[in-house]
Amino acid sequence: MSKKSAFNTRLGVILAATGSAVGLGNIWKFPYMVGENGGGAFLLVYVICCILIGFPLMITEFSIGKRSGKGLAVAFRDITGNNHWQWLGVMGALIAFLLLGFYTVVTGWCLEYLWQMVLNTFHGLSIGELETYFGDFTSSTTRPILWSAIALVSTACISWMGVQGGIERMSKLLMPLLLVILVLLIGRAFMMPGCDEGMRFLFRPDFSKLTASAILNAMGQCFFSLSISMGILITYGSYMPKSQDIIATSAQVGILDTIVAVLAGVAIFPAVFAMGVEPTEGPKLVFVILPTVFDQMSFGALWGILFFLLISLAAITSVLALLEATISYIVDRWHIERNKTIIIVCTILFAFMVISSLSITGKFDYLCPLGMSFFDILDNLTSKIMMPLCALATLIFVGWYLPKKGTLDELQEHSKIQYRWFYRIYFLLIRYLLPISILVIFLHGLGVI
Ligand code: PHE
Repeated sequence: MSKKSAFNTRLGVILAATGSAVGLGNIWKFPYMVGENGGGAFLLVYVICCILIGFPLMITEFSIGKRSGKGLAVAFRDITGNNHWQWLGVMGALIAFLLLGFYTVVTGWCLEYLWQMVLNTFHGLSIGELETYFGDFTSSTTRPILWSAIALVSTACISWMGVQGGIERMSKLLMPLLLVILVLLIGRAFMMPGCDEGMRFLFRPDFSKLTASAILNAMGQCFFSLSISMGILITYGSYMPKSQDIIATSAQVGILDTIVAVLAGVAIFPAVFAMGVEPTEGPKLVFVILPTVFDQMSFGALWGILFFLLISLAAITSVLALLEATISYIVDRWHIERNKTIIIVCTILFAFMVISSLSITGKFDYLCPLGMSFFDILDNLTSKIMMPLCALATLIFVGWYLPKKGTLDELQEHSKIQYRWFYRIYFLLIRYLLPISILVIFLHGLGVI
């Protein structure tokens, strides 16, 4: 099946983009980022980043793809007629690949938790015991690698068979189900004694806790969660039917992604406070808290299984998108056969994944250069450095390099939004405000200014 025909419906693109956007970033990373960066103020900055930076960037990436009708590898050359911007495509594919190095590891954790839910291992365990379980599991050398390998191989198989049509259909069922479970979890969370405190932590901004690095984290999380700044949306834009409204599609995907993240926060923080856990626990937060919440619900084991199944599937649709960005880049650029490319990419990725998983076991100091595990290096390097730079370059490309008229005509032609002011603001944003803000947040967050 050709990639083009697979996504050739309006809904197909929306589902594929949503499938890539909604994943571990929303349910695993967002709550612990909120916890580590001071709660409500972080949430507010995050939502502002999504509206003012994420939304215009989504529109911009989609429109580059739609305009050229080509994937990441050739889109820039196709639009400009020269090779000057090709490196931006290389950077996008590279970011996707590096992200996979830690994303597949966490997908593996979800599979382990799904399996343990099936075995009902967590029944009756205290928070302390769950923390020990998580610690023992992630510091073991073999099991996490085994699960991550299963995640990688299954995604590679889906990619191999080219069953994106199946993924589309699966996403259609998956998203509502995930929302239903989150709402159920929220219902349970509201009955917990820590509810008020949790809600206050999440929704009442305490700006004294907002540091420059927290703002950079919020921006990085916005890029990560919306799957922007690595060319994935350029590729999906190229699959759009001519008549598709880029602005509406960006809004739909962005809103849904943000709703899922906020719902995950609402489901988790009351429990965090009810159990007396520190919100700053980091990556283990969700894995320690949620099994306890399920354990207290009627039919908890069943909900737990369903939840970890859904989050695993949501993670796998994101892995698929990341893998697709890397694979299609290589296929389009060097004309290597698709299946051969899948094998090459997955083999190198496997090595990466092993290093990343071993680096957090605490047993191999040499896998933690710069005082940080290889796993954290991949996460920080992509979200806090490469994605902001890639976003900046994309904005300069569209805002300064390409003629303004072509960009706006392309957008306006197929959009229901016909207000001139909307396009004026959009252009002002991508030309001035966004590049400057991204640069300032980036340099300030890194402590350079
Ligand atoms: N957006 C995904 C998530 O929130 C991660 C991802 C990033 C997927 C980039 C594809 C591309 O989990």
